[in-house]
Amino acid sequence: MPRLVIDTDPGVDDAFALALAARSPEVDLAAVTTVFGNVGLDRTTANALGLLALAGRPDVPVAAGAARPLVYPAPHEADYAHGQDGLSGGTARLPAHPHGLHRLGAVDLLAQTLRDSPTPVTLAPIGPLTNIALLMATHPDLRSKIDRLVIMGGALTGGNTTAAAEFNIWADPEAAYRVLVEEDVPTVLVPIDLTYRCAVDGAWLTTLRETGPLGEILESFTPSYRAHYTELLGHDCTILHDAVAVAEAISPGLLTTKRMPVTVQTTGPARGAVIADQRLNVPLSPGYREIDVAVDTDLDGLRNWFLTLLGRTES
Ligand code: BDR
Ligand code: CA
Repeated sequence: MPRLVIDTDPGVDDAFALALAARSPEVDLAAVTTVFGNVGLDRTTANALGLLALAGRPDVPVAAGAARPLVYPAPHEADYAHGQDGLSGGTARLPAHPHGLHRLGAVDLLAQTLRDSPTPVTLAPIGPLTNIALLMATHPDLRSKIDRLVIMGGALTGGNTTAAAEFNIWADPEAAYRVLVEEDVPTVLVPIDLTYRCAVDGAWLTTLRETGPLGEILESFTPSYRAHYTELLGHDCTILHDAVAVAEAISPGLLTTKRMPVTVQTTGPARGAVIADQRLNVPLSPGYREIDVAVDTDLDGLRNWFLTLLGRTES
């Protein structure tokens, strides 16, 4: 069975992504690593442990990674969307994890998982790319053990954190530059241009609650997150960014991708922006790398796929 590792900063949408991977019969969730981002590292790590216990997968090792970006401090967290505990006040509902943190740190656990795997592993980073940049820098020999990077991040037509930048890339642009531009690993980028289109509404959340205990708790994480997006976009919606990326990591081809040269802006007012060269028939510009960018999917098909997997009973 294909192996998947998720690097995450839970986060309401990260919680949905972890639950999908934990419940999927299509992949072996081999490890979860944590990073600062939506809230601080201590909280994202505690949330990851609790979420795996909740999803019935306390066997999946969890290791803590970077507490800050590579170079400059991130100007702020995303508690305005995810709440101060990262789960809209829902951490109190998470069960205790029976084993706790792995003895290795995130980069070492990532390296060990790749090295020990008989087949290449899919890595799905759904937070700032700090741990992944450190992995590439410290273990260049293991790049060949990565089947694909499926990254949630970037905005091609306007950011969600600044006018130009999406949160995960904005939180550590130097790390993003390293991973997206400097490394030669097959990469799928899932930007907010697509994740916004995959929004779910109140009726979908009601159906989720009715799928069973996991769906009920996941839905309980959403009220203030949903209110944030509803106010931002002017209609009832909840954006499950990370779940969209992890869907593609679990089931390659669920998203339609287009090959584009991209770069990451690391200076000036557009710091953290991903720029995609969408001109036709021009040579690759210096400082850009061609990757696959997710541009479309069967929107209702994906929403139903989420419900089927999240409503699945533990195996
Ligand atoms: C990304 O930023 C975070 O707030 C979410 O968890 C997601 O990974 C969306 O821009
Ligand atoms: Ca995230």
